[in-house]
This record gives sequence, C-alpha cells and structure tokens, in this order.
Amino acid sequence: MARRELEPHRVVRLEEDAVVLLDQRRLPDEEVELRCTSVAQLVDAIRTLAIRGAPSIGIAAAYGLALASERGEDLDLAYAGLVGSRPTAVNLRWALDAMRAEPTRERAEELHAEEVERCRRMGAHAVELFPEGARVLTHCNAGGLATGGYGSALGAIRAAAAAGRVAHVWVGETRPLLQGSRLTAWELEQLGIPHAVIADSAAASFMARDEVDLVVTGADRIAANGDTANKIGTYGLAVAATYHGLPLVVVAPTSTLDPAAADGADIPIEERDPGELTTRFAARNPAFDVTPAHLVAAIVTEIGVHRAPYATTLPRATAVVQ
Ligand code: MRU
Repeated sequence: MARRELEPHRVVRLEEDAVVLLDQRRLPDEEVELRCTSVAQLVDAIRTLAIRGAPSIGIAAAYGLALASERGEDLDLAYAGLVGSRPTAVNLRWALDAMRAEPTRERAEELHAEEVERCRRMGAHAVELFPEGARVLTHCNAGGLATGGYGSALGAIRAAAAAGRVAHVWVGETRPLLQGSRLTAWELEQLGIPHAVIADSAAASFMARDEVDLVVTGADRIAANGDTANKIGTYGLAVAATYHGLPLVVVAPTSTLDPAAADGADIPIEERDPGELTTRFAARNPAFDVTPAHLVAAIVTEIGVHRAPYATTLPRATAVVQ
C-alpha cells in the first residue's frame, strides 16, 4: 500500500461556518467528515469521540472558540461547554486558556501548527530510546488522529522507523472502544510500518515470550511528579513491563503537563457510559488510569527526554515553539 500522510487539516480544521473533522468513530471502514456548525455540536463530537486524543480535542476546542467569537456568541458559555466535554485530558483547558486573550481563527491555526511541531520534535528526541530492531508495544491511539497530525507515541515510533530502528509494532486493541485496532492499526498501515493487533489481555504474555523490547504510549495529563494518566490499561502494561524488565516510555507535549496537579490523585478520571461495555449487566467503565511515575522509564516532551525524579526534571510550562 502506498504511504499516505495524515495531513493536519484532515484531522480537524476550521472552515467558514464549521469545525470540520475526520469522524474517528467511523474509521477504519469509512473516511467521513463531520461538520460541526455550532459549539453544541462540537461538544457532542468530543464527548462521543468523533474526535479524540488529548491534543486533538484541545485543537478542536480552540477552533470552536474561534468560531463562537466570529459569530459574537457568549465566549464564557462556549468555554464552559467545551472545557467540560471531557475531564481527563488537560490539553482541553490548556488550549481554551491559550485562546482567551486572542480567540481568533489565526490563533487557533497557529496553536494547531505548534502542536504538530511539538510532535515532530518529540519524535526526533525519542529515537535514541529505541534499540536497533525494536519490537514496540503501544496502546490506544497516540497518532496523528490524536494530536492534530503526526502523533506523539506514534510520532516517536515513525521517527524511529524512519531511522531504521523499528522491526515491528504490537498494537493493543484497546477495549472497549478499540482505538488501537481501529485507529492505530489504520495509521500504521498508511505509514507502511509492520504491525499486528493483539488483545489487550495478551500483552503480558508477549513480554514473557521476549517478543517486546519497549512500551511506548501517549498521555492525557501528567502530574508534577510524573504520574501519568492515559487510556485505561496503560497502568497494567506498566506493571507488566516493569516485571519483565522492559521500559515504558511516555511521549507527550508540554501542553499535556499539569503542574497544578501534584500527583496522580489530583487527576480527574473520566467514567464513561457502562453501555460501551455491556447493556445487559451492571458495569463500570473508567476511560483512563494513572501510571505512577516510578513505573515510567522516561517522559519525552518536545524539549527532550526527561528521567526521574520528574518533579525536578519535567518542564513547568508549555514550551514556545517557533
Ligand atoms: O479516550 P481517548 O481515545 O481520547 O483516549 C486517548 C488516549 O488515551 C491517548 O493515549 C492520549 O490522549 C494521548 S494522544 C496523543
């Protein structure tokens, strides 16, 4: 299959009268765009995961605020609706706050371009963490779809693949909404990087059989001490990786850092509709978990590779990119 780049404007963009996004609920079967002509529609699109992934929802919200501003709508109301659409990813609040001083389409486009540039820089920094012929395990989708283009964890994987260091990627399917088997596998296929989907529950046994060299994930929010919230199941992968002596590397832009959260206990965890799991029985459906910092081998931001103790090595503010 010919390699195909997921251009940032395909993930999300602002047109004259709508925020337009590639509807991630329909992938990989259909590439269909969704036009959100109101903030209410955009809030619904974020809630229902038509667009998802921490940086992407921040960028989409920024476009939504710009649209509301052009129409002379109540910006406090738009802010409140958008910021409340999903609770865990701090990028949502970060992007909306960044838009407060200048809620224009130019500012939103600039913010989008800066997030993509952060991803490219993270990828370049992360390459050194991949051994030659790396067999990588990733979870959820931290690719171009999740970041407005290029990717964080997947950006690192593609940069390492371009450097000839990646032999294979194991893609955890990521129950219950299958961001791994639907979205990450789709992106890897388009990038021409060898991969195979595995059940989430198979990850530890692939590690035990010495078929994994490192685990690479994104993040939704990173506390000041390095505790990292990411898709449910990441914590289990971190425990299994540590047991097998394998590094778990988190790749996330500085817009995902939350210095106001002292540790993971300060990170709100989204509980989604149990109906996403089963409509027949009682269920619980937390969308994220927190991996304690001591199980994270390295955190890669656009500034560089950070190691424990994260309280002193992580940047305290979002880096300015030019
Ligand atoms: O519920 P989702 O699909 O929005 O969850 C996304 C994740 O957990 C990603 O790993 C995270 O946002 C990092 S994306 C660069």
